[in-house]
Amino acid sequence: MVTAVQFLSGVGALFCASQLFRFARFVWVYCLRPSSIGKYLHGPAPYALITGASDGIGKALAKELYDKGFNIIIHGRSEEKTKKVAEELRARGNQDVQYFLASVDQPDIDFAKLVEPFKNLNITFVVNNVGGGGNRVGRIDDYSEDNLMKDLRVNMLFAFNFTRSLLPILRKAAPAQCLFIGSQGAEIRIPRLYTYAPPKYFLKQLTRCLSCDERWWAPSNVSFAYVTVGTVVTNAMRTTPHLFNPTSERFAKALVARVGCAEDEYTAWMPHAIQMWFMKLLGDSFIESYAAPTMKGILEARAGYADVDIANMKKTA
Ligand SMILES: NC(=O)c1ccc[n+]([C@@H]2O[C@H](COP(=O)([O-])OP(=O)(O)OC[C@H]3O[C@@H](n4cnc5c(N)ncnc54)[C@H](OP(=O)(O)O)[C@@H]3O)[C@@H](O)[C@H]2O)c1
Repeated sequence: MVTAVQFLSGVGALFCASQLFRFARFVWVYCLRPSSIGKYLHGPAPYALITGASDGIGKALAKELYDKGFNIIIHGRSEEKTKKVAEELRARGNQDVQYFLASVDQPDIDFAKLVEPFKNLNITFVVNNVGGGGNRVGRIDDYSEDNLMKDLRVNMLFAFNFTRSLLPILRKAAPAQCLFIGSQGAEIRIPRLYTYAPPKYFLKQLTRCLSCDERWWAPSNVSFAYVTVGTVVTNAMRTTPHLFNPTSERFAKALVARVGCAEDEYTAWMPHAIQMWFMKLLGDSFIESYAAPTMKGILEARAGYADVDIANMKKTA
């Protein structure tokens, strides 16, 4: 017969063991484990493709992956900006650098045509990075459906359709990996993120579904991973760099260092992982009470919102 004390001791021991295991895994992932990026540097000319690479995290990732030895394909919307990044990359060495343009908020993208130039390339690593623009001032019903759909295309639908069109190319190049860039915003409650946080959550679940699809019945050796991202200093997030707010260059290095560290979901920057752990510990309601005024401050600070009723955070014009 097990006494209450023995039962509680057993539960306590199991809890401590699970926490020890978590801690050991944390140290392994962030301090000891070598990156698996080399696994995707195979074949005569391996390519990495990064969307939204004319600026910010995407641009820094393109540089990091170029320096690891990949040929690079970058995506942007402005020819001038994207070409400039391509030239900066070419100046780093001898690998091939290509770029393509697409305004991903548009409804009429021909995805088959978009990937056509790449169908004979050995694309082994893809980062679905393009995203942003989700900090809405008004409530969801202050905007037209057309207006809201633009954000959903940028943050979710482009990655969905683009990945679908690229998959046959990735299967030919396998082993290949496709990343989706996510956000801490998808894990917590923050007002006015209705066109940003739900799409990121969608990408997270899409990652799991596609991972399963490519593993079962006809395994293809194409893997997927969703990367949770906290604040990173970019033009879209102008803030002071510090431990919890890395520059895009430091973040890109961390992201590449973490490749392969988890089955299909991870946080690339260690301090962001600690942040997430604390957030979960503090609970949704506490985080919401902190995040809501912070978001109000961010929206107030943004230029060009003279037409906003700040007290109600409502567009008045
Ligand atoms: N920075 C952060 O704190 C943070 C936090 C969490 C998650 N993230 C995620 O990280 C990713 C990159 O963010 P970032 O901070 O690096 O942003 P960023 O500096 O604004 O760069 C975004 C990239 O996407 C492109 N882009 C944006 N809208 C587009 C459109 N409609 N059509 C075509 N291209 C478009 C931009 O092109 P242009 O150069 O022409 O603008 C740029 O290349 C996003 O998915 C974002 O959600 C960032």
